[in-house]
Amino acid sequence: MSGNPFHLGLFLQGSSVQAWGEAWTGHIGTSWMVPDLFLDVARSLERACFDYILLEDSSYVGESYGNSREVYLHNGLAVPRQDPSVVATMMIAATSRIGIVPTFATFAYPPYLLARLMSTLDQVSSGRAGWNMVTGSSDFAARNFGLDGLPEHDMRYEMAEEYIDLVSKLWDSWEPGALVADSESGMLIDHTKVHQIDFDGRFYKSRGPLNSGPCPQGRPVIAQAGGSARGRAFAASNADTIVASTNGPEGMKAYRDDVRARMAASGRNPDNCKVLFLVSPIIAETKEDAQRVKERRAALNAAQVDRKLAFLGKITNIDFKQFDLDAPVGELKTNGHQQTLDEFKRKAGSKTLRQAITEHSGDGGSVPLIGSPDDIASQMAEAMQHAGGDGFLLSLPNLTRRTLAEIEDGLVPALQKRGLARRAYGHTQFRDNLLEF
Ligand SMILES: Cc1cc2nc3c(=O)[nH]c(=O)nc-3n(C[C@H](O)[C@H](O)[C@H](O)COP(=O)(O)O)c2cc1C
Repeated sequence: MSGNPFHLGLFLQGSSVQAWGEAWTGHIGTSWMVPDLFLDVARSLERACFDYILLEDSSYVGESYGNSREVYLHNGLAVPRQDPSVVATMMIAATSRIGIVPTFATFAYPPYLLARLMSTLDQVSSGRAGWNMVTGSSDFAARNFGLDGLPEHDMRYEMAEEYIDLVSKLWDSWEPGALVADSESGMLIDHTKVHQIDFDGRFYKSRGPLNSGPCPQGRPVIAQAGGSARGRAFAASNADTIVASTNGPEGMKAYRDDVRARMAASGRNPDNCKVLFLVSPIIAETKEDAQRVKERRAALNAAQVDRKLAFLGKITNIDFKQFDLDAPVGELKTNGHQQTLDEFKRKAGSKTLRQAITEHSGDGGSVPLIGSPDDIASQMAEAMQHAGGDGFLLSLPNLTRRTLAEIEDGLVPALQKRGLARRAYGHTQFRDNLLEF
């Protein structure tokens, strides 16, 4: 099957040890502090003409499982996590076209600091910076920043609306043309075009102007992943790209249609925001080889139920250790990632917790992709045709130089052959490449 090109991104699970205990990870346990692997990831995916790499982040050591940090530290579950701004900067320096999207949570970065940091990243990358705007999901993280806990879920989005309003005003505090750099007159900056903002909101306050100067893109690309109704409303008003984890081609279509309708209702052109669906392809030489990889992964997941529950518990703030593994999944509530928990409960039905988490960990994301590069290219084309657009965010449970080669040298050429992936970047700036098709 061939068709129109779609967008591609990578979901990099934090600046950290990506696949501890997996094959083909070399000396990752001792070499992770220097991010050579991430620089190789950035160069490889730029050769593959990916739109962007999203660097996931959280700012605490997990301890939701049995009130202990042991399972997280012992197995390297979302720890260590280096500050994404530093790793993003290094990835920017190693590339020249791909978009780099670090995650910064609104509760952890005061708006002025964030606006300054993002404008700096946009400048040093010549217009390739994006911001994965998250509101946070853990009281443990909040306490690291001197708060007692996070505000309630919908209130976080209300605060985020004000936050984005404020940082946008800071980015706009330099009018176009403010930078003069005229050696004849001696004027570097025209002071009449740089403005104080005097923002005084319900939650945030800032005087301005921004002292770091304007963003080459006007403002950085905004990425968002709001799965709940409130989150989608926020993303529809503010995001240039949405990263979504949904269920099957029907779910993909429903999600995208919903976001596009919300955008149209709020006066935005729906084509100005690209929805990328989270997927976790299993790529091998043949269908049969890929099936064997899947079976090995399933066996591993079944043997690692505690780790998988600890991971789910970290993002939903639920201590799954208190539950009987062989009893049905009961009533669960969260002030964390609502959509993730809703999906987990929906798929679990009357299954036991053990069955539910084993299947949840191996389900491959929004749509299962498995087989040879050609098989997967066809599966992606089919799902995209059904959803209507706009692309995929690839997440590799075992990111290594070997699995990276499966993407750059296997999957992407198969997509390019069908006209489904770009062969060259059309523009120098990130947002322009996102809006190219
Ligand atoms: C692909 C993807 C990437 C995400 N990355 C992060 C992240 O790096 N840090 C974070 O705190 N939350 C992250 N989230 C969680 C979202 O910010 C959000 O909390 C989640 O999608 C649930 O949405 P809801 O709060 O509207 O229910 C991510 C979600 C998805 C689907």
